[in-house]
Amino acid sequence: MTPPIETITADTAIADDSEDNAPLLAHDYDGIREYDNPMPGWWKSIFLGSVMFAGFYGLYFHLLDWGHTDGERYQTQLADYESKKEIRARAEAANVSEAALTTAGRDPKMVEKGELVFKSRCVSCHADDGRGLIGPNLTDLRQLHGTTRMDLYTTISNGAPGTAMLAWGEQLPQADVVAVAAFVTTLRGKNIAGKSGEGQPVTRFEP
Ligand code: HEC
Repeated sequence: MTPPIETITADTAIADDSEDNAPLLAHDYDGIREYDNPMPGWWKSIFLGSVMFAGFYGLYFHLLDWGHTDGERYQTQLADYESKKEIRARAEAANVSEAALTTAGRDPKMVEKGELVFKSRCVSCHADDGRGLIGPNLTDLRQLHGTTRMDLYTTISNGAPGTAMLAWGEQLPQADVVAVAAFVTTLRGKNIAGKSGEGQPVTRFEP
């Protein structure tokens, strides 16, 4: 037999469920009564803290768009890199021209730099003075690919597919390719005895 409602206190039937003998609240809904058991302070602090943090987070990252998530930062940096890559490629392509190679060929510093590149990368096939070994003689008045300075540059940069001549544009910094092309233009017409002439006859470049 259940005791009459009036007699229920924190000490009776459901005493085990009450915390620290919490007092009963005054209200009574069809016999259902409630202990005054507030959530502990630490719990309320964490709850309130999360609510405040969520508000701040939503405001900062979404509403005001002040902050950027890692994903957004990554995308921005990637886009930046991609756009710069295109700009770099275009600038580099635009910087090399017949005129630029002519100027570079007249600049002793450029030619000297190009000679250093030549000595370290090209002598195995074109010999130390360019007279040719596996590769053609670069000092005679014949040219395999094209006739101009730009043609020399293009062959050096893109290589000659199917031959031992590599695409040096993929191996060396652009500045080195330009410098070594400038150096090669200064070799033409030196006519150093070596590999016999290959390709079509060309004239010496104007110094
Ligand atoms: C592994 C050998 C090898 C190396 C190293 C090499 N070349 Fe060549 N090069 C060749 C060959 C072979 C050809 C001829 C390609 C052909 O028959 O179309 C050639 C062609 C060229 C031509 C075109 C000449 C023409 O008459 O059109 C130039 C210019 C040239 N090389 C410059 C260079 C420079 C500068 C370097 C160093 C950065 C270099 N080469 C390194 C083998 C080489």
